[in-house]
Order: sequence, then structure tokens, then C-alpha cells
Amino acid sequence: MALVTAAELTQKASLGGYAVGAFNLNNMEILQAVINAAEEERSPVILQASQGGLSYAGIDYIVQMAKVAAENASVPVALNLDHGTSFEQAMECIRKGFSAVMVDGSHLPFEDNIALTKRVADVAQAVGVSVEAELGRIGGTEDDIVVSEAEALMTDPKEAVEFVERAKPDLLAIAIGTAHGVYKGVPRLDFQRLSAIREQVDVPLVLHGASGVSDDDIKKACKLGITKINIDTELRIAFSQAVRDTLAENPKEIDPRKILGPARDAMKQVVRAKMRLFGSSNKV
Ligand code: G3H
Ligand code: ZN
Repeated sequence: MALVTAAELTQKASLGGYAVGAFNLNNMEILQAVINAAEEERSPVILQASQGGLSYAGIDYIVQMAKVAAENASVPVALNLDHGTSFEQAMECIRKGFSAVMVDGSHLPFEDNIALTKRVADVAQAVGVSVEAELGRIGGTEDDIVVSEAEALMTDPKEAVEFVERAKPDLLAIAIGTAHGVYKGVPRLDFQRLSAIREQVDVPLVLHGASGVSDDDIKKACKLGITKINIDTELRIAFSQAVRDTLAENPKEIDPRKILGPARDAMKQVVRAKMRLFGSSNKV
């Protein structure tokens, strides 16, 4: 199958009352872990690459790997730019074959975030690429984007209405108390805020910083209308723990396949469990 848009997958998810997982892609092992999990779970899936991921792997490798995976898959796959911060970055991804882009103008003043998002949306939507925007500011660290606790800002429901009307994104990432990276304490999600936004805004809503959020809270977020959930940190933890375990067991191992193979299996188990939790299993 060719790559599909994140809008298509999440609009279907909102009708079905589940969320589609979006997993960060940096190398072949992560890609295979995610795609094999999606096949085994019969689940739609969103692959995504951050700006850091693109500079690590190279945009051509990311696009071609995702295309090979999608073409060979029997489940629908989208390829999304994650936290793109400029018009130029979004355009490059569209030119190279991404089916979805996130333009993250959350560091900008409200009007400038609208202007940047609208500018990207006008071009992207004209060529069949969906656009995710962010309003409010999600805390924590996502590759090169660092937002301190003091800078983090919850999404204002009234602003969300105006933002979606004027900037016209296909999906909206909201800040309701989650953060990128490993949590220091227990994340507290503002479900009232989520409900208020859901009642007034009709585009699919995205939960970032979902690694480390309890299963109960994830289930509640899905029930209240979250239809795309981003996971990166839990894949990193599974990967690095498996590599550490393999090398601890056999410190003389030099075959990359024997080191990375178990890491790929560990990540696949994480992805499968997330798909079941998000309710996207057996939705294809
Ligand atoms: O954009 C990517 C995700 O928001 C990553 O969140 O650090 O909780 O896995 P995470
Ligand atoms: Zn994020």
C-alpha cells in the first residue's frame, strides 16, 4: 500500500473510538519493530521522524525505508514529520514524499503560530499531505526541542477554537499536562481541559509525551477523544535496556545483528502493547 495521511487514519479512529500510535523512527530496527507489530496486531500505524531523526538517518533513508515498509505492509501506514519548526522543513518533507507533517509553532506568539501553520497547511493540503499543529506548549525534551517546566503552557480551549478556524490544521496537538522524555514525577493529565477542547474543536486531537503515562490515563484520554498518541521515549528505553542486557550476558559479542536483534524484538513488544492499549488492534 502507498503511504496514507495521518488525517485519514485519525478521522477513522475518531469514528471508531480508538487512537492510532505514532512511533519515532531513527533506524531500520525501529522501523521493523513498528511495522511488524502493526502487522501482527492488524493495526493502522503512523511512523514519524523528528528533525533530529532526519539529521541522524538522512531524509532520503527515512522516506525510502518508510515507503518500502508501507508498500510491503497489509496495514495502512502514514509517514509524519514530528515537531517540524519551519516552513522550509515542512516543504522539504512534502517534496521528498512524507504523507503528513507536523508544524510546531508552539514556541511562537499565537498570531505567528497561526500564520506559520496556515502557510504550511495551504501548501500541504493542496498536494494531499495532512498537517498537525501544536497549541499550548508541551514540556520536556524531544531531541533538539527543550521546553522547561516554566515555559510549558496548557492549551486554552477558547484559543484552540480560534486557532483551528484560522490556521486550518488537520490535527491538533494539545498540552494537557504530558511532557516529552522520562517523567520525574507522576504525570497529571487535565482531563477537564481535554473534554472542553474536544467539545469545541472538531479536528483529531493528538497526545504528545505519552511514554510513562499510566494505562488508565491513556484509556481515559482515548475515551475523551484523543486519536493520535506519540511514543518515542519508551522505545528508547526498550532498545537501550535490551542492548545493555545482551552485552552484559555476552560482553564479547561483536555481531551487530546479535546485539540489535533482541533490541528490535523488545521494541516490537512495546509497540504491540501500545496498540492494544490505544484500541487500534484489529481495526484494519
Ligand atoms: O513527538 C513525540 C512524542 O511526543 C514523544 O513523547 O517522549 O513521551 O515518548 P515521549
Ligand atoms: Zn512530541
